[in-house]
Amino acid sequence: MTEPFAAVEIITAKRNGQRLTDEQIAWTVDAYTRGVIADEQMAALAMAIFLNGMDRGEIARWTRAMIDSGETMDFSSLSKPTSDKHSTGGVGDKITLPLAPLVASYGVAVPQLSGRGLGHTGGTLDKLEAIAGWRADLSNEEIFALLEDPGAVICAAGAGLAPADKKLYALRDITGTVEAIPLIASSIMSKKIAEGTGALVLDVKVGSGAFMKDLDQARELARTMVDLGTDAGTRTTALLTDMSAPLGRKIGNALEVEESVEVLAGGGPADIVELTVALAREMLSAAGVEADPAENLANGKAMDVWRKMIAAQDGDPDAELPRSTHTETITATESGVVSGLDALSVGVASWRLGAGRARKEDPVQAGAGITIHAHIGDKVAAGDPLVTLHTDDEGRFERARDILDGAYTFADSAERGSVILDKIQ
Ligand code: URA
Repeated sequence: MTEPFAAVEIITAKRNGQRLTDEQIAWTVDAYTRGVIADEQMAALAMAIFLNGMDRGEIARWTRAMIDSGETMDFSSLSKPTSDKHSTGGVGDKITLPLAPLVASYGVAVPQLSGRGLGHTGGTLDKLEAIAGWRADLSNEEIFALLEDPGAVICAAGAGLAPADKKLYALRDITGTVEAIPLIASSIMSKKIAEGTGALVLDVKVGSGAFMKDLDQARELARTMVDLGTDAGTRTTALLTDMSAPLGRKIGNALEVEESVEVLAGGGPADIVELTVALAREMLSAAGVEADPAENLANGKAMDVWRKMIAAQDGDPDAELPRSTHTETITATESGVVSGLDALSVGVASWRLGAGRARKEDPVQAGAGITIHAHIGDKVAAGDPLVTLHTDDEGRFERARDILDGAYTFADSAERGSVILDKIQ
């Protein structure tokens, strides 16, 4: 077929800071998906977008083109409303695990089509795969059945949703072009809009462990995504939340499942409970349900949904979680109150211990990770345990210890404030 544009014209236009037309954008995304635009050309364009940006209209058109590259789902035949959450990714961010069954316990269906982790932030599917027997791949019929009962499903996003994004995200990952707001916003929102959820709450992370290191950048990303969702007819809001320190006290696949179950049993760390309840309130409200989500955490109703949800995907909610074969504890060399614990260092250490993968084909260790004994606000004396490292491969301890060196800061007094920094709607 005769192509209406040449890739090089589009690359030079964006390199020179020009706006791309609707037709140019639609063709670019489609031609890249078809293999007509080569990876090296798309890499150059992604860098030009990274450097020169795109305006709201261009981002909306780019997002639409990525949605149109594949299939879309439609949950309007369900007997209940749908509401979903997406986090831009952080260290110890296991919130989806307690959140999905909590929201479902109020009669709002949660279609969580998720991915596996790459780099220092863990993937939801990797965490759930630590549960014996649990299965991430479901057919569309199974997804619909589970959304009716028990009401929440966390599973692998099928290859058919936004295939242009899959190809482009892998390319961005190896060409230094991930952290561009137009590309992150269109990547996330194309998948969520294609997924067909009625309402969407975004958890946009800010801090060392997140893509966005400062609040202004995070606010711009949140605003861009909320506008994209709203323009596409998805009720979308965003919370900006702190990712300067890890969430909770357990980092790693099985360890994060364990901490999520503590939260579902009415306990767990205060920051995880705060964020789970706040996101649940937003998800329910966007679906037209006003409730205090803390209630169903306390009375066990969310736990009932969790158990059914795990069993429905062949997991055993009572199975003992895998443990790593080796542990090593790092102790404090000084006394004081913990005033900082760097999220990125903890995330990279956990990754180096085997909890994450460097390439998408790599396996992950279910039991690997980090238990935090001293978090922000905790008082320690020299010799007290700070963290325990877990791995199946002793050779990994040294590199994990290296990155944790300097991760803690101490002061005379400190406390962990609210993890919720702002709301965008
Ligand atoms: N997550 C995504 O799905 N895409 C991005 O570009 C960044 C984070």
